[in-house]
Amino acid sequence: MDKLVIKGGVPLSGELRVQGAKNAVLPILAATVLADGECVIHNAPRLRDVNKTDLVLTRLGCSVKREGNTIFVEPTAECACSICEELMREMRSSIIFLGAIISRCGRASVGMPGGCSIGLRPIDLHLKGLRALGVDITEERGYINCTAKRLRGADIHLDFPSVGATENIMLASVYADGETYISNAAREPEIADLAELLNRMGARISGAGTGLIKIEGVKKRLCGAEYTVMPDRIAAATYLAAAAATGGDLLLTGARPDHMEAMLHVLRDMGADVCAHGGSIRLKAPKRLRGIHTLRTMPYPGFPTDIQSPFMAAASLAEGTSVFTETIFENRFQHVDELVRMGADIKVVGRSAVVQGVKRLSGARIVARELRGGAALVIAALAAEGESEITGTEYIDRGYEEIERCISECGGIIKRVSE
Ligand code: UD1
Repeated sequence: MDKLVIKGGVPLSGELRVQGAKNAVLPILAATVLADGECVIHNAPRLRDVNKTDLVLTRLGCSVKREGNTIFVEPTAECACSICEELMREMRSSIIFLGAIISRCGRASVGMPGGCSIGLRPIDLHLKGLRALGVDITEERGYINCTAKRLRGADIHLDFPSVGATENIMLASVYADGETYISNAAREPEIADLAELLNRMGARISGAGTGLIKIEGVKKRLCGAEYTVMPDRIAAATYLAAAAATGGDLLLTGARPDHMEAMLHVLRDMGADVCAHGGSIRLKAPKRLRGIHTLRTMPYPGFPTDIQSPFMAAASLAEGTSVFTETIFENRFQHVDELVRMGADIKVVGRSAVVQGVKRLSGARIVARELRGGAALVIAALAAEGESEITGTEYIDRGYEEIERCISECGGIIKRVSE
């Protein structure tokens, strides 16, 4: 098991290139299953979750090769149509393969993804959408078995704009007879990224990135395509929050500030000087950050749940009180106990956390229990006095590419120790 050892108190300053988006590359890799030919995916971050997705593709019978940040995927004619329970449990987002496999093979069998540490994570909306397209679904001994003689276009309204359900329905409907409309679709930029790749492959999708997506089923098999994954808005905002919390001056390049408005707005409200130009964002921290008043996590374009904990780490050192309300997942305050161990003053009341800013945090031995909560602990450790040791790095590695290299390049004192 690795741990990250961080000596805090050094402002994070310098220049950093933003990694490719984890939440975009996962559905994009799932979409490659649909190609008759090779897909070449550039800007694929080197992450644990991406490696697991490569493994799923290999088990499905695809040839997968990686060169640096480019992944080459070519499905074989004989595509397998099941994903075992173990792989599904390790990575819940493998559920995104369901729609792609049904589209390709007319049937699919995947292990039940189950809950995860941040919450229940049901898949009822995915299944409701697939049923509307004509998929027969049965659940048996921990597996979801799907068959579809013929997929037909449908009008599907999502009760909640679920990212995964929107992506799964898009993938399942590319070959359906007629048109499919998804209303109250998720509007996250990663949805538009997936649609752009699918359109390059020959699909006909419009409206992705808005609440109404139209998919016109095509008869011709999708072909291979070359695609560059969008920049990771959550990783970008994490490094900005780290610079803000440490009193730094950071220039991010290769970013999409237009995807990050809610987060940049909050950083400005906290007193940071944030300038966005083309693909660059520069943040200069104030002497001391201001508290956030109230912040509610919301579907895009609202404030993302994934950045709630990194921003809470920054707010724990701000002047005044900040209130965070988590509306998307039930259990996304697991970082709070660890921040409190470092000297933060945070009280959780139901779905809200009230943060009274303190003047300093102290280094401590702390445990990451999930991906973004782990990133919050890294930020707190960088801003704290003294040394911290963070275990549970396997969670952080699910979403941050070479986090210790990125931080060291900006002057942070961090090392990975393997035990
Ligand atoms: C994706 C992101 C994740 C992010 C989340 C919300 C990926 C790989 N992961 O996860 O990082 O935190 O969006 O922005 O892209 N829900 C249901 N029924 C369903 C599906 C979802 O009730 O069938 C609920 C969930 O319990 C949750 C909410 O909808 O409360 C949001 O989930 P969803 O948007 O589906 O998130 P994911 O796609 O799993």
